[in-house]
Amino acid sequence: MVQFKTIEDLGALDGKRVLIRADLNVPMQDGEVSDDTRIRSVAPTILHLMDKGAQVIVMSHFGRPKGKVVPEMSLEQLAQPLANVIKKPVVFVNDCAGDVVTDTLDAMEGDAVLLLENVRFHKGEESNDPEFAQALADNADFYVNEAFSCSHRAHASTEGIAHLLPSAAGLSLEKELTALENALGNPDRPLCAVVGGAKVSSKLDVLTNLVEKVDHLIIGGGMANTFLAAQGVDVGASLCEHDLADTARSILTKAAEQDCTIHLPTDLVVAKEFKAGAECRTISLDDVASDEMILDVGPATVAGLSDMLADCKTLIWNGPMGAFEITPFDMATVTLAKAAGALTEKGTLISVAGGGDTVAALNHAGVADQFSHISTAGGAFLEWMEGKDLPGVKVLEK
Ligand code: 3PG
Repeated sequence: MVQFKTIEDLGALDGKRVLIRADLNVPMQDGEVSDDTRIRSVAPTILHLMDKGAQVIVMSHFGRPKGKVVPEMSLEQLAQPLANVIKKPVVFVNDCAGDVVTDTLDAMEGDAVLLLENVRFHKGEESNDPEFAQALADNADFYVNEAFSCSHRAHASTEGIAHLLPSAAGLSLEKELTALENALGNPDRPLCAVVGGAKVSSKLDVLTNLVEKVDHLIIGGGMANTFLAAQGVDVGASLCEHDLADTARSILTKAAEQDCTIHLPTDLVVAKEFKAGAECRTISLDDVASDEMILDVGPATVAGLSDMLADCKTLIWNGPMGAFEITPFDMATVTLAKAAGALTEKGTLISVAGGGDTVAALNHAGVADQFSHISTAGGAFLEWMEGKDLPGVKVLEK
């Protein structure tokens, strides 16, 4: 099992400056933070380090300013929301490196936290320029990564800096890495994965990696249509990547060689219109009319999957089973999510889910709290499911 450096490994922190890489790239609406999950996830680490006597500095990116100063992407707008969550004063400084940061730190008194300006205002951030990483490191004694959702990026603030300062995973990153390791690195079996969403093309590497690792792979959403079509099912007017039929067949062959059971829908919910409340029918695979779209997996399939899940010990979930944003096509996603939540509460299943759509779907089903672990990371969660090393995590290995 891979071991990561933790805050405990850093030793005495009293009077030391600790620079935390957070992900404060939060959704905003009309100038207000509309979901503060990422701010809340870094708060325990900030407070823990302050308890240990450290002077805490927080850095993050916001948006994609591409190496230029874009005022609308300033982190200044996150200073008050951060202060509200940690209930400590937050001082903002309008750069992330250089004398202005040093001078501000020297002048700070009491238990205030320093928030740096958007690291992506500098070109050196995304190019992982060693000089820029050094400039960030110059103002701190220690580095703590608390941004799993940015750790798939080999940037100066996520990777380069960790070579220059004694470094560790923050409390929430540590929790995330342990949950992911238990789910895919060293899982209790049988292990089942749900992979849904619109397109096979966006999750090809995920599917290819998972068939080697999991015992059961449930394919849902629009991607299931591509697999059904590859097996000769007429999918009518459904979303389908017909050009990926060979790829889908080779994934099915690989799965059979690896003793991975692939679960595709055996019944379907179809409609002629993509809208809430559209007239729909539940049908067998051979009954899709040319003007109908498959918008959800049918109830018989979901009942079978729920039974199968009851025999599994671990579940990884990414992507909805159907068009869950519009009723009644949320039925499969909601029913399966409820089954997984109930098994987790009963203590027979470890359930890990991640990705923006997936979190929204599990919230919609009202079961997000029941899952063992929910990752708010998008790209990083997918790259982890693809079996890739995440540079910001790799560099923290013991
Ligand atoms: C995210 O929102 O997924 C992270 O903050 C990473 O953002 P990025 O895709 O711009 O690197």
